[in-house]
Amino acid sequence: GKGIAVFTSGGDSQGMNAAVRAVVRMGMYLGCKVFFIKEGYQGMVDGCENIVEATWASVSSIIHKGGTLIGSARCAEFREQAGRLKAARNLVEKGITNLVVIGGDGSLTGANLFKQEWPELLQILLKQGKISQEQADKCKYLYIAGLVGSIDNDFCGTDMTIGTDSALHRIIEAIDAIVSTAYSHQRTFIMEVMGRHCGYLAVVTALCGEADYVFIPESPPPEDWPDKLCHNAGQRLNIIIIAEGAIDRNGQPITSEKVKQVVVDRLKQDTRITVLGHVQRGGNASAFDRLLACRMGAEAVMALMEATPETEACVISLDGNQAVRLPLMECVKRTQAVAKAMADREFELAVKLRGSR
Ligand code: F6P
Repeated sequence: GKGIAVFTSGGDSQGMNAAVRAVVRMGMYLGCKVFFIKEGYQGMVDGCENIVEATWASVSSIIHKGGTLIGSARCAEFREQAGRLKAARNLVEKGITNLVVIGGDGSLTGANLFKQEWPELLQILLKQGKISQEQADKCKYLYIAGLVGSIDNDFCGTDMTIGTDSALHRIIEAIDAIVSTAYSHQRTFIMEVMGRHCGYLAVVTALCGEADYVFIPESPPPEDWPDKLCHNAGQRLNIIIIAEGAIDRNGQPITSEKVKQVVVDRLKQDTRITVLGHVQRGGNASAFDRLLACRMGAEAVMALMEATPETEACVISLDGNQAVRLPLMECVKRTQAVAKAMADREFELAVKLRGSR
């Protein structure tokens, strides 16, 4: 059978283990040899000792676990050709030409570049005498399927990324917990949530947690936001959600401290800040994330099995409750265009580009 390797890259998210498990089990079910690459691209660059064959049992009892048990890393070396050459040599050594990469847009971009460069990398390795002609012939084509693992839900092409739903649960639990203590006093609670430049986690949890106000990067508040924020003066309890990337119309960060100052000055209300931080990325994966990861992992293996030398690298996406294969580079480009529009403060364009994901 074919050799498939699976690895996780960039920031972890809940559901990555479930995805790894699905790849291993589906691959083995179809008669493939499946390998883990430990510590992401770094492990691939560092040496064959990080490329370990998986067994059916090696992915037992991991479906629920947060984080990634096979390790992840941000790898500067892989950004250089010298690093990619080392990675290619290690894969050829192991006879692996099918990769499932689980990560964010940076990790998927790296994978696509690797695929494009593959024939050239093989030629260089041949010339350097680091691989044989027989190995080069055997490993002529590289096939790649990507899965998006991130709590931020910031990737174009998929309705949900693996980890977002679990992070939403974590945030909602925290809001509920805070509300129960907060209601005993007259207080305002400001909760800062993750999401980088994406306000998805903030918007959804504001809605589900009955927040009074929410700040997100994609839709900076009007100039008179302090008036609007404080129009509920005299309320017993206020919950304000701030996305970590929130900004005003001049592109200046709206921080929890800034908002607190406004509430204290105008409402004279006792105000507390909770920065949820990495709690959001931890804990067990939700049922939705486990299911999403199972479906995406299985689909990734199927995509690799059906790939021909002409097939582009794909990303497995959720589209209206169906797992679909989309061209990886197109999705990455759209995602980067959104990020650029955001950085240029072209918010309406960013929202349009994100479109129906
Ligand atoms: O992309 C996931 C994420 O958790 C973001 O929401 C956050 O901004 C970032 O990663 C934090 O990264 P680190 O774990 O490196 O501090």
